[in-house]
Amino acid sequence: MAEPSPPPAELAARAAALRAELAEHAHRYYVLDAPVIPDAEYDRLFQALQAIEAAHPELLSADSPTQRVIGRVLDGFAPVRHAVAMLSIRTETDTTEGGALAFDARVRRELGLGEADPPVEYACELKFDGLAINLRYERGILVQAATRGDGETGEDVTQNLRTVQQVPLRLAGKPADWPEVLEVRGEVYLRRDDFEALNERQRQRIAAGARNEKTFVNPRNAAAGAVRQLDPAIAAQRPLSFFAYGVGEVRGWAMPDTHSALLDALAAFALPVCADRSVVQGASGLSAFHAAMGERRDALAFDIDGVVYKVNRRDLQQRLGFVTREPRWAVAHKYPAQEQITRMLDIDIQVGRTGKLTPVAKLEPVFVGGTTVSNATLHNEDETRRKDVRPGDRVIVRRAGDVIPEVVGGVAHDPAAGDPPERAAVFDLHRRLGGRCPVCGSGILRPDGEADWRCTGGLFCPAQRKQALLHFAGRRAMDIEGLGDKLVEQLVDSGRVATLPDLYSLDVDSLMGLERMGERSAAKLIEALTASKQARLERLLFSLGIRQVGEATARDLARHFGSMDRVMDASVDELLQVRDIGPVVAASIRTFFEQPHNREVIERLRQAGMRWDEHAGAETAAALPLAGRTLVLTGTLPTLSRDEAKARLEALGAKVAGSVSIRTHAVVAGADAGSKLEKARQLGVPVLDETALLALLDEPQTFEALIQALRPPPATLPAPGSTIENP
Ligand code: IVH
Repeated sequence: MAEPSPPPAELAARAAALRAELAEHAHRYYVLDAPVIPDAEYDRLFQALQAIEAAHPELLSADSPTQRVIGRVLDGFAPVRHAVAMLSIRTETDTTEGGALAFDARVRRELGLGEADPPVEYACELKFDGLAINLRYERGILVQAATRGDGETGEDVTQNLRTVQQVPLRLAGKPADWPEVLEVRGEVYLRRDDFEALNERQRQRIAAGARNEKTFVNPRNAAAGAVRQLDPAIAAQRPLSFFAYGVGEVRGWAMPDTHSALLDALAAFALPVCADRSVVQGASGLSAFHAAMGERRDALAFDIDGVVYKVNRRDLQQRLGFVTREPRWAVAHKYPAQEQITRMLDIDIQVGRTGKLTPVAKLEPVFVGGTTVSNATLHNEDETRRKDVRPGDRVIVRRAGDVIPEVVGGVAHDPAAGDPPERAAVFDLHRRLGGRCPVCGSGILRPDGEADWRCTGGLFCPAQRKQALLHFAGRRAMDIEGLGDKLVEQLVDSGRVATLPDLYSLDVDSLMGLERMGERSAAKLIEALTASKQARLERLLFSLGIRQVGEATARDLARHFGSMDRVMDASVDELLQVRDIGPVVAASIRTFFEQPHNREVIERLRQAGMRWDEHAGAETAAALPLAGRTLVLTGTLPTLSRDEAKARLEALGAKVAGSVSIRTHAVVAGADAGSKLEKARQLGVPVLDETALLALLDEPQTFEALIQALRPPPATLPAPGSTIENP
């Protein structure tokens, strides 16, 4: 048989170019959060590479983006002896400014600095709450990932870390610039939103009867579990993230002179480095960083348990050296904990918007994650039992970011620690409520395969009615300013409003006379209600409070079907055609629109004058008028908020990107637009102001004509001021 002919040189070059291009786009997408090509374009490049590799397996390389493969199930982790020990750092537990001052004083003393000497320069970073990992790159290629273990020997978790999209399989830049060996040290972690989504999925699995599944106490435990998961397929379902913060063994590379320059160099190799870091001078700089990040802590996408200070200059680090297993040049400065132990006084049951009955722990007030918490969710009956927490017990409460505080577990019963001698009975929601909704007295039931008990009262139940109205009025729903919980309470209790459309029969007179409602605020509310009648279909779909339909699903529905009538009449099979909609969601939507009273709500909203954008016939996103168009928003627009502009463009199928490139079709610029506008001008990308944007949103089919008209003239055209003959 003839030898297969070697792949032509241009094919090898093409594969290499595709790999480089894909790695660049993946880095922009996963690390920089600033993609410049549509997902579909990425998929196309990916498939092109896959096709070449399938035809010519000899062209396959371990660093190919197609090789973030999920390998076989492991039967254990091989030990990895670290070339350079993975140390830990000293922790400053004084969470006030004192912690920063103490570290600076120690560093100055050990360096022999006097009062007259200048301040020491520090690199400040966040202390990520995850799991330490060593990534080993040999000549630019990721060859091994290991956990810290005992610092000397860790475990080989290469297979699992290869599934982490943020970890480059091959360093960016020119091969000539790659170190012979570069060990990157950093933290794998789970973002809070990814953690919440993971736990929600776990709860659903458990409710559906899955055995051997559990929810995770916090993102750190979930991340650690994923890294040490023997089945890489399961690890890959937990979307881990990574931040680099230092190096281990380095060979054949000129190390930068400072820690901050080292991190810059790692970022240039396409390693994810957290942007929240800074170089400061002296103790005042340290405590300013500690305070500033303390303020931002809740707004971060991930958990931190403190900040880390490092002497910036490497020569000074070397002079300071180590004590036992800790460097003298670095310290962790903590923040107040996001988990605390407190006593659970009782379990209350709250009725939600969809009648869901949620057990809520009443706690002895405790300061956690920056605020005093006295209520925390227990999620549902099974969770409460699985954690085996009962009134009178001491429990662990977690509050991180703006996530609702929750009880994550109990503390072993111990009368010597003040626990009551006898524990309360195992939690039984039905018995506890005597089988009746605590608000309206209707029966409660827990459908097979579901985690939650529900009140059967529907909109007869005032609690559900109130929650439904609040949801409808919410900022991300119809955004009716002024319709808050106090007012909804009064409107429902006084009988003025029972269903959503009733809101639109309110007038200034019927509002006045309510508590704390003057003529001005009444008029303002009516104004907000009137404004809300110009709605977007996706917002309205979300506002209706259909179970299982969040913002993303509402948007997908609006894009897929294009009109309310088509959504209302869609069969389960048709609903299953929508991206990301599975049988549970489809059934829920179908059930909702099968109820005559829900259809009546839509009809009455129409009669009240509500209008929403419809583009009937839009079968798929690709058929939307702005599909395939990429726009960038920059600066402050006179009337539209950035979110609003983005949402409206996306509803028409456009992609709104974070940075300007030659692939950008247009830039929308408002006041104080900066570098993006500059870039657009350089690249000759058309620039729209808000007036032009509004015109475009009204008549998206004019997009091509509009950007043609706005495209800056090529430089060879006559300069402004010279006469051009009109055609
Ligand atoms: S530096 C020799 N920087 O905290 C210095 N560690 O003991 C080595 N951590 O588990 C550590 N964020 O994984 C450093 N920005 C950061 C960090 C950080 C989190 C973890 C680290 C280790 C512990 C430090």
